[in-house]
Formats: sequence, C-alpha cells, structure tokens
Amino acid sequence: MAFPILTAQEAAELINHDDNVGFSGFTASGSPKVVPEALAARAEKLHAEGKPFKINIFTGASTNRWADGALANANAINRRTPYQNTPDLRKRINSHDAHYFDLHLSELAQKFRYGFYGDLDVAILEVAEVMDNGEVVLGTGVGNVPTFVSRAKKVILELNEVLPKTLYGLHDIYLPLDPPERREIPIFKPSDRIGHPTVKIDPEKIVAVVHSKRYDGIKGFTALDDTTLQIGANVCNFLVSELKAGRLPKSFLPIQSGVGNVANAVLFGLGDAEEIPQFEMYTEVIQDAVIELMKMGKCKFGSTCSLTLSDATEAEVLGNLEFFRDKLVCRPSEISNNPEVIRRLGVIAMNTALEADIFGNINSTHVVGTKMMNGIGGSGDFTRNGYLSIFSCPSVTKGGVISNIVPMVSHVDHSEHSVDIIVTEQGVADLRGKDPVQRAYEIINNCAHPAYRPLLLEYLKLGKGGQTPHSLEAAFAFHVAFKESGDMSKVDWSRYGF
Ligand code: COA
Repeated sequence: MAFPILTAQEAAELINHDDNVGFSGFTASGSPKVVPEALAARAEKLHAEGKPFKINIFTGASTNRWADGALANANAINRRTPYQNTPDLRKRINSHDAHYFDLHLSELAQKFRYGFYGDLDVAILEVAEVMDNGEVVLGTGVGNVPTFVSRAKKVILELNEVLPKTLYGLHDIYLPLDPPERREIPIFKPSDRIGHPTVKIDPEKIVAVVHSKRYDGIKGFTALDDTTLQIGANVCNFLVSELKAGRLPKSFLPIQSGVGNVANAVLFGLGDAEEIPQFEMYTEVIQDAVIELMKMGKCKFGSTCSLTLSDATEAEVLGNLEFFRDKLVCRPSEISNNPEVIRRLGVIAMNTALEADIFGNINSTHVVGTKMMNGIGGSGDFTRNGYLSIFSCPSVTKGGVISNIVPMVSHVDHSEHSVDIIVTEQGVADLRGKDPVQRAYEIINNCAHPAYRPLLLEYLKLGKGGQTPHSLEAAFAFHVAFKESGDMSKVDWSRYGF
C-alpha cells in the first residue's frame, strides 16, 4: 500500500485544536521532530489570527526542543504527561499555561488503555523504515508507541533518513493484556526477548509519511567535577562493600541508572571500579557513559527504552550496529520500567534527588516545594521495586546556599519506605534496618555538608518527640530561610520559639 507523502506543514494541518496526540520516543530519542515543529508554527499563526490552538500531548518521557520546546514556546500545549525537561515547557507548567500531570512512566500505557485519559486522535511516530503492510521499524526510543498506535484514529510517520534500516532487530515490542487477562511478563534476564522487532500499524490509519533528516539534538553531559566524581566513587565503593559482605551475588545484579549529570558520574565511576564485575543493565535510558562501558567490556548488555545519546555518540552507534546488536534491546516503557520485572530481576536502582530529608524521604521533582523541575520519570518504578534503592545528590547546591539534606523535604516523591541508601560526595548513609532517629544520625553524619551538620543536629534535638521527632513549626525552616535570605544556613530557630 502506498502511503501519502506529505510535507511537515501539510501533516500539521491534519491535527486539530484540542486533539489528544501521542508522540513516539522516550527523551529526545525517537521523538518526532519536523511535524511538531511545523505544528508549533501553525499554532503561532492561528493565535495571531485570534484562533485557539492547543493540543494534549502524551509521550513516553521528555521529548526535544522541536516538540515540547517549540510547542510550549508557541503556548500550544494544554494537557501534558508523563515527563518533560525543556525550559520553555517548565515555564508554561509553573505558570499553569500547560496542565501537566506527573506520572510513573510505567503506568501511562495501561492507564491510556483503561480509558482514563480519553481517545487518541493522532499518533506521530519517528520511524527508521515503513513497510507496505504498515509495519514500522522505530527509531532509537520506543516509549508508548504500541499502545498509541492501537488507540490512535490516525497515524503520521516521520521517516528519518539518519536512522539506518539496520535498526531492524534492535526493538522488542510487546503489549501486555489488561486485567483480568494479564499474565506474567516472561523476562527472566535483561537480554530476554519476548516480542516483535517491528510495530504493526493498521495501514488504513497511516494518513501521512513525512521525510526528515535530523539527529536527536542531545548535548553531551557537563564535564564531571570533583563533587560528581566523588559521588560516583562513593556509590561504587558502597557496591563493592556489598559484594564483599555477600549481600550482592558475585555475578552482580542488573543496574538501572537515572538521568542527569550525577547519574552520568555514577556510571563513569562503575567503569573505574575494578572490583565490580561485568554487569548488565535493565534500565529506561542508555546514556553516553554506558556506550563507553560497553566498549570497555564492563557492561555486557543493556535493556532500555531509549538510546539517549549525544549526536556524536548516536552517529557512532548507528554506524557500528554490528558491534552493539547483541548488547542492546529497546522495549516499550511499560516493559522497560515494569515493576514485576524489576522486582524479579533484582535491579539495583540508582537515581538522583534534588533534596533528601534526615528521615530518608526524597524530593526529585519540586524546587523548594513548588516549582516543577522535570518530573518523577521512572525513578519511582525502579525505586519502589528495586533490590537496592540508592539516591545520590551533592550535599549542597548553588555554591552552598542550599543544603540538599533538609529537616523535611518540601515535596515527597519517594518515601522513607522505599529508600535504602543515600549518597553524597560526603559519604554513604545506609538506612536499612534503622528507625527514623537512627536514620537521621546516619544521614546527617555521613551525607550532610559539614556546614549544615550542626543545624540539622539542632533540629533533631528540637523535635517534639514521637517516633519521627519533627517540629511541625520548624520543619521547613531551611526553606523559609532560603526564600527570605537566599541562604539556608541563615536559619533562625528563635522565630520558632527555640
Ligand atoms: N534546590 C533547588 N535547586 C536544586 C536543588 C535543590 N535542593 N538541587 C539541585 N538543584 C538545581 C541545581 O542547582 C541545578 O540547577 P541549574 O540547572 O540552574 O544548574 C539543577 O537543579 C539540576 O541539578 P544537577 O545537580 O545538575 O542534577 P542532575 O542533572 O543530576 O538532575 C534531577 C537532577 C533530580 C533534576 C534529575 O535527576 C531528575 O529530573 N530526576 C527525576 C526523574 C528521574 O529520576 N528519572 C530517572 C529515572 S530512570
């Protein structure tokens, strides 16, 4: 069947105000590029004519500057889920121009199928190849494509020429049945394949094929500094001590690593740690650092939802697929982040916090409790179900005026019940088997910056008793001090009656 070849502008005309639109991909990888960009231009034109144009966007995770970036800039996003990370969209979310609901990434596909968010009008997919029968080979990120194409009334394909046809075989596309018919997901090791290399789309739904030629536009990470390097080393030393104590099997367990600079530093640390054996990953993103680990032979296999690589590394991997073919598989997010599989495989979950409190609760999403940063992403999928759940962050940020260890987190993403280990450049707090006050001393003494330790110990003593001795009056004293003076260390206990 010959599908209509349209320009990005013509394809953008097929999308209407208030449509529910699903994008392929996961992070910038595999996300559509030229059609969202043309859609943003169309929205700007309609707005200039005084006409409304906003769409509701469902994705796998964050997207890219041509999708979330341009559409947010054009104020063309109404509802948005499950994750984002572009500055323009962040602004729209925090000013309520865009209505964002932050969701565990493993959950969007099934909640969509359960009918919680309405119908899907259009799915826009980046593909490497389209076959006459409607089968497509996806790009370097999968996200929620299988669910989106099964629900969408129409499908627009972006056929990206930078993606080689040899991507065929990288993906493992599997759609679970829904309750009460759901069965076990038969993945028993990260490299198990349970699905199909292509996505099958009803050819009648394909209303446009748009040609494109663009890399994902991902920049390399910030160079590692002393703090991030030390965090990476601390995580690795901790894992080595777990191996020596026999609490991790000698063959090791699959690793999940989160997003961001700190996560990247931890991965580089693993490469340097001689005592850590070769390992596999069961994760949602594979960053540049993992590709290095694969080339070194340290990482044997990676199961992921996306290859979130800088343009240079993406070109290297796409040009050398023969080397990487037996080391990688890309799965839909409800499988890459599946709680059942994560629990079964015994994944070591390593994620990043914005702040942690002295009792072990974690805030990964809200700056000073109110402003959305990115979203919870897959951190909850992995943390709640991991064999070991580790959070890292620097002990202080913004030159020391913010302590990332606080009396009470200003927003809770991961509760004390799910967090085993906290790591900063200062050291490691092992929370396992400890009561709240024991955890507090462990975190303050091992993870807090020395400049904040006395303040945190004072807070602990000011608490009004009970198993978790908070002072409800002063629990946010650090945050209040930061709001008022721009420096958390200027906390004044006397205003709370102490
Ligand atoms: N209060 C205010 N700002 C803070 C802060 C705090 N406690 N801690 C960090 N920040 C700021 C930093 O100063 C930096 O600001 P800048 O962009 O102006 O320089 C920014 O937050 C990012 O911090 P950085 O130390 O560079 O962290 P990162 O790149 O490692 O990202 C998260 C950290 C938490 C934002 C990121 O990991 C994230 O979004 N996590 C949630 C989703 C997730 O875990 N997904 C993975 C699951 S697989």
